[in-house]
Amino acid sequence: MDLDKDTVSRLQSEAKEASSYSYSPYSRFRVGAALLTADGRIVRGANIENRSYGLANCAERSAIFSALSQGDSEFSAMAIYTPDAKELLSPCGACRQVISEFVPPDFPVYCSDGQGGFKRFAVKELLPHDSLQDLSAG
Ligand code: THU
Repeated sequence: MDLDKDTVSRLQSEAKEASSYSYSPYSRFRVGAALLTADGRIVRGANIENRSYGLANCAERSAIFSALSQGDSEFSAMAIYTPDAKELLSPCGACRQVISEFVPPDFPVYCSDGQGGFKRFAVKELLPHDSLQDLSAG
């Protein structure tokens, strides 16, 4: 389940654009995500923090929740852009769990930073040994 180069770079640009809407005055760590829907549209998400620090929502979950809230539930890929990262970021544990709820195990996640770092992960690499998969709704 791999995308062509142009689609990956379009998705990366959308993730970059999303990072510009990050609300991250506490961490000063901007994250943008872009989710490609099965019918070819792109839904963006940014990390949104709060002065009650624990309420921060990651960009990946913002994108997933936003897409689902608009009626999109079939996804082809996600891109993540982290301009402030010192090394390439991959999704946090909570986001890995949430992403994997809604996509197949070989779903691609393309991570890039502002310094040319790039890596593609499959969701099953991000969340291996998922014994809860047996309980999944799908
Ligand atoms: N963050 C994300 O948006 N995605 C991740 O995968 C890891 C962390 C956000 C949460 C918080 O706003 C900031 O980055 C620093 O942790």
